[in-house]
Amino acid sequence: MKTKSAVMYEQRKPLVVEELELEGPKAGEVLIKYTASGICHSDYSVVHGVIGGKAPMVLGHEGAGIIADVGPGVTSVKPGDHVIAVLTPSCGVCWMCKEGKHHMCSQMGKLMATGRMLNGETRFSKDGKPVYHMAGLGTFSEYSVIPEGSAIKVGDNAPLGTVCLIGCGVTTGVGAAVNTANVQKGSTVAVIGCGGVGLSIIQGARINGARMIIAVDPVPEKRALAMEVGATHGVDPFAPEGPVKQVKALTNGLGVHYAFEALGRTDTIEQTWSMIRPAGRAIIVGVPDAKAKIKLSMTGVFGEKRIKGSGYGSASPKRDIPRFVDWYLNGDLKLDQMITKRIRLEDINQAFDEMGRGEGARSVIMY
Ligand SMILES: NC(=O)c1ccc[n+]([C@@H]2O[C@H](COP(=O)([O-])OP(=O)(O)OC[C@H]3O[C@@H](n4cnc5c(N)ncnc54)[C@H](O)[C@@H]3O)[C@@H](O)[C@H]2O)c1
Ligand SMILES: [Zn+2]
Ligand SMILES: [Zn+2]
Repeated sequence: MKTKSAVMYEQRKPLVVEELELEGPKAGEVLIKYTASGICHSDYSVVHGVIGGKAPMVLGHEGAGIIADVGPGVTSVKPGDHVIAVLTPSCGVCWMCKEGKHHMCSQMGKLMATGRMLNGETRFSKDGKPVYHMAGLGTFSEYSVIPEGSAIKVGDNAPLGTVCLIGCGVTTGVGAAVNTANVQKGSTVAVIGCGGVGLSIIQGARINGARMIIAVDPVPEKRALAMEVGATHGVDPFAPEGPVKQVKALTNGLGVHYAFEALGRTDTIEQTWSMIRPAGRAIIVGVPDAKAKIKLSMTGVFGEKRIKGSGYGSASPKRDIPRFVDWYLNGDLKLDQMITKRIRLEDINQAFDEMGRGEGARSVIMY
């Protein structure tokens, strides 16, 4: 069949929106008709060479849609089911899955590293040549073929054009707060970078009962949005005192219990270490260049500070996706506020430019 997709032919060049060939689902795969896809900073980072990616590739990894067909052996979903596409297929049999760490499933690593389906093939092609899939999902496409495990069924009452955000940014952010950090009731939190991921961390911290949530972002509209979804204070990191002093001033000079980085820069990662109190925790969610190095003070080490990365919100999709959808439906998770714009696939390059300027929280492509 044919599908309209946005293809990255070369890093640092605009995506090309065009028609591709899409082969039907093979064993353990499903054909999905995407309803919507959010645009995550990780897509932007692939285009800008911060995160590796094979070209030509259909980008996008934050989608939701309806199952159109299933390959042999598929039992967990059927045509017509509403699903959210997730980053980890949670195979259930690799060592990480067996240890309950579904967000580190070896199949996920394989999909990310190869840009192919699990059997080594691609389902997208152009003029007979393979086109790779980002994370086995390729959500910047009207149709795609994805592994069965990457399709998590949700109720028909969940609006797919909004809960698509749970595919990446929301699960990453809310999960970083409620799973990775397990933010304690009454604690103090700072979040550096209040885009789709940071706003979700703020919401996870609010849901877990944090008493103070400080939103750190240079864009006033982002700080205002952060306050709308649960932050109690806003800090402009570019003010003369800098972010660390301002966060400490708000916490009796001591620093916060938890600081999250949701931007992907080494200087802001180092700031999290400086703004946590002794025995505090720095949780790194933003993804800088994989070869980047950070410097941490020994004072902090002997102050028993801890630093931890958070991958995909330490999520177990079968447990977390339905519960995050419920949190949205009962009003605890505010996702509508996070959607700045609904756009057409053709507007994708403009949306990347806006993201580069820090404008808007999430743009959502509607198919
Ligand atoms: N760990 C994971 O599993 C995972 C998953 C998804 C995304 N990510 C990463 O999370 C990061 C954030 O993604 P996003 O989609 O929310 O990005 P985004 O572009 O929507 O948001 C980034 C925010 O940072 C703000 N900012 C810019 N400079 C700043 C500074 N000096 N101090 C504080 N804030 C500043 C911007 O104004 C913007 O609001 C990216 O690095 C992305 O790759 C990680
Ligand atoms: Zn993402
Ligand atoms: Zn696995």
